[in-house]
Amino acid sequence: MSENHLPTVDLDQKLSEQTPQEILAYALEQFDNIAISFSGAEDVVLIDMAYKIAPKKVQAFSLDTGRLHSETYRYIEKVREHYNITIDVVFPESEAVNNLVREKGLFSFYKDDHKECCSIRKIGPLRRKLLTVDAWITGQRRDQSPGTRAAIPVIQDDKAFARPGASLTKFNPLANWSSDQVWAYIRSNNVPYNELHDRGFVSIGCEPCTRATGPNQHEREGRWWWEEATLKECGLHDVNIKK
Ligand code: ADX
Ligand code: SF4
Repeated sequence: MSENHLPTVDLDQKLSEQTPQEILAYALEQFDNIAISFSGAEDVVLIDMAYKIAPKKVQAFSLDTGRLHSETYRYIEKVREHYNITIDVVFPESEAVNNLVREKGLFSFYKDDHKECCSIRKIGPLRRKLLTVDAWITGQRRDQSPGTRAAIPVIQDDKAFARPGASLTKFNPLANWSSDQVWAYIRSNNVPYNELHDRGFVSIGCEPCTRATGPNQHEREGRWWWEEATLKECGLHDVNIKK
């Protein structure tokens, strides 16, 4: 990406008026080394859109925390086969997981909070992965979390995970889309989706920290439900939280 394309408020404003496909096309044109972070949930639309724009450029990765639902593992595999793409499945450092589990057991997050476990199982691997790319693409939307995502930009300078001395650009092409728009896209394009969605799961993360939501519950209420509701983030999108 050339200097005059570094994320600025003006560029973000311009991209915000564009469709997710146009934003993705721009991102894929600007960067050769760019990866989609695929959680095994409804952000599959990014893979579908990118595949239709530049099939050979689709590079995706999933953070395998070791605690995902078996449905999610099957689904990641289904998406890999469906699009015939490489999905880099990234694992946590075994020693860090060993130490955590030895000292605090397998469910420490219910007693402490989820930060330590997420840091080892998600953030460490994400950091390692992001050292290898110049830009990444996420499925974050503003309507996902009023407390932390209401103002996310479409393009941002990701200072939280950049290599020392280099910049890392983060794209959120679905920022302005609602959940309804995502699902309309999935249905009208016959995009494969995680079977958990048919069982009341909306926002899907790790198995012990995710549950189905009922009518009129916000999707975020199905994540880390034992914790305070407004600031639920695990650190992947740390730039969202004003310290
Ligand atoms: S989280 O931070 O609370 O876990 P959320 O589940 O809302 O995130 O997903 C938002 C975006 O973060 C997804 O669209 C995806 O781009 C990225 N993401 C979340 N979890 C993962 C994962 N396990 N692997 C890869 N990307 C992920
Ligand atoms: Fe650990 Fe739960 Fe975070 Fe997954 S979501 S990494 S199980 S605390």
